[in-house]
Amino acid sequence: MSHERMTHLLNKQRSFLPPEHGKTSAWISGADEYEAICQQALADPQDFWNARASLLLHWFKRWDKVLEEDSVNHKYRWFTGGKLNASFNCIDRHLISGRRNKAALIWQGEDEMAKRCYTYQMLYTEVCRMAHALSSLHIRKGDHVALYMPMIPELVIAMLACARIGAVHTAIFSGYAEGGVRSRIQDAKARVVITADAAIRAGKLKPLKANLDPILEKCPSVAHVVVVRHAGLDNIHMQGRRDIWWHDLIDDFTLNADYPCEAMDANDPLFLLHTSGSTGKPTGILHSTGGYLTYAAHTTQWCFDMRDDDVYWCTADMGWITGHTYGVYGPLALGATTIMFEGVPTYPKPDRYWRIVENFRVNILYTSPTVIRSLMREGEAWTERYERDSLRILATVGEPINPEAWQWFHKHIGREELPIVDTWWQTETGGVMISPMAYATKLKPGSASRPMPGIDAAVLPSPDNANPDLDNRVCETGTGGHLVIRKPWPGMMLGVFNNEEKYRSYFTRFGCYESGDGAVQDEDGYFWILGRIDDSINVSGHRLSTVEIEAVLTSAAEVAEAAVVGMPHALKGEAIYAYVCLCSDVPWSEELRVRLRDMVRRDIGPLASPERIQFVEAMPKTTSGKIIRRILRKIASGTADELGDVTSLANPQVIPGIVDGHANLLDGLAENTPRQETSDGAEG
Ligand code: PRX
Repeated sequence: MSHERMTHLLNKQRSFLPPEHGKTSAWISGADEYEAICQQALADPQDFWNARASLLLHWFKRWDKVLEEDSVNHKYRWFTGGKLNASFNCIDRHLISGRRNKAALIWQGEDEMAKRCYTYQMLYTEVCRMAHALSSLHIRKGDHVALYMPMIPELVIAMLACARIGAVHTAIFSGYAEGGVRSRIQDAKARVVITADAAIRAGKLKPLKANLDPILEKCPSVAHVVVVRHAGLDNIHMQGRRDIWWHDLIDDFTLNADYPCEAMDANDPLFLLHTSGSTGKPTGILHSTGGYLTYAAHTTQWCFDMRDDDVYWCTADMGWITGHTYGVYGPLALGATTIMFEGVPTYPKPDRYWRIVENFRVNILYTSPTVIRSLMREGEAWTERYERDSLRILATVGEPINPEAWQWFHKHIGREELPIVDTWWQTETGGVMISPMAYATKLKPGSASRPMPGIDAAVLPSPDNANPDLDNRVCETGTGGHLVIRKPWPGMMLGVFNNEEKYRSYFTRFGCYESGDGAVQDEDGYFWILGRIDDSINVSGHRLSTVEIEAVLTSAAEVAEAAVVGMPHALKGEAIYAYVCLCSDVPWSEELRVRLRDMVRRDIGPLASPERIQFVEAMPKTTSGKIIRRILRKIASGTADELGDVTSLANPQVIPGIVDGHANLLDGLAENTPRQETSDGAEG
């Protein structure tokens, strides 16, 4: 993010005090309590996490050590010797604590009339049946099961069934296309894939099973595919002994077939979830059972001030980390009621969210700035016709929330009184790291505020090899730097699956966890996230790897080189801008542009589809031949006037052509259309 944006953010600070009513019964009931807990947690982290893990979870066997630390290799093992099961914590223990008939999971389908509600008892029954079913497919502790599923209750049931038997689930967002799905199944070496006939999205069907079939030809590890009949699609091809319908599979297991929980070591993996890294291949983040679940419950309780009678709705797809931690594990570990919605906010009309809020009397709403911006665009009329008084806390995640969207959310949804909890975290961190406490933190729109108790976040300048004394080098107030976490925390990833080197890379630069985000702290110690520093782009709150997209583009025979950067986008936050240099003799054409965009869409998924593809004669390069993305980013953002000194480039002469091409593209012209004499070519 540019220096200008930073200054703009800091200058525009306006703050909002936490609400008074409801404060006394809150988990953290004011700024003093927050400060005291933070101090205590950082002074004696082991004691703090010891207390939280005891309080929040049921352990079959208590741990011997809170933390075993190998700080040379940055291996942190939490609650070693402890035994527990995530499915037991999310279901069984609630059956005897008075929550047996409480709604655990409420599902709203895309069709308004399609609703399902599972009480804790019902969830228990279905999860046990699926655990038996998986076991009948010879899935055992430690085996990997891929979940390529739409937002349907069977996804949650499958996750908890895997957890019950100790299998490691690896969810694959149903919006991914062929390449994204294949690379994840292959990396995980999944033995079973659970899917559905189709996903329903904005009135259209996406045939998941049919998409999966050709992918599986290159995934030899997969022995079985379990298919949920969800959309009622005809002519589903079921392959011999490999494919089984979900309903046939569980039919063999009676309703009272208890499946005892596997006692897992605290550091046995609970799940694997891939995120876009700085390489072309997705990074498989492994999360532990004990540390992750402790952290999920801990943050759910404190960030959202979760109370027993709350109806809580995290709108994220369960295929992302947000859905894992705050759609499933956090709320269910606390015995809450969690809502799952299959549809999109604007289909068939932009009132879907508010209908759900009214229908189920949602108390806590956790969503993304992109969703807010898209609903804001549709106008308040859609929100005002629904009862929203049940709402108590609003929260966001995934990207910085721009002040306009914050104000709209606060005014039109939050009645100008509800706290907006802007949570910063990552797939790797397992749960929220920086966030306001609803009833304790003064809010500043656009800032995720301060770290959760127990989290030691800091902003550090780039390492200075001449002065390696990193500890004392926190950036000054108002100066941007790298956001790092200096002490381990229970939710931190267990490792990167099959990639030790990648895991280590998170720690090499600063000697502690490097988030890959830039940030700046203000005079109150509030963190302002400035976006990714590495080669990822955050589109609508989803992290995408530029390298992965470039790899698809360069796989086209016509393409010699591709460089992908982010550009600001009013709705998505950031969008993808691809520069493509074609092989000599290949002409630039609209047809090729469409084809390239289509390739990305088909291989990675619609999310990764470039907003713009610009053909260029050559890429700006250093003398050692590296593409200078900094320059391309500026041009894509329409700030070519800030390029600065480009004389050290190997080929500065290419820049005017790229700037002109960009301006032409915005004007709807071909890149190589000659510009008017009067145009300076740098606007737009
Ligand atoms: O750049 C940050 C952005 O999302 C990245 C993490 O992406 P992912 O692992 O896919 O997890 C998304 C959901 C937790 C971060 O590195 N990000 C996340 N939350 C915020 C954010 N940027 C600004 N403000 C946030 N609240």
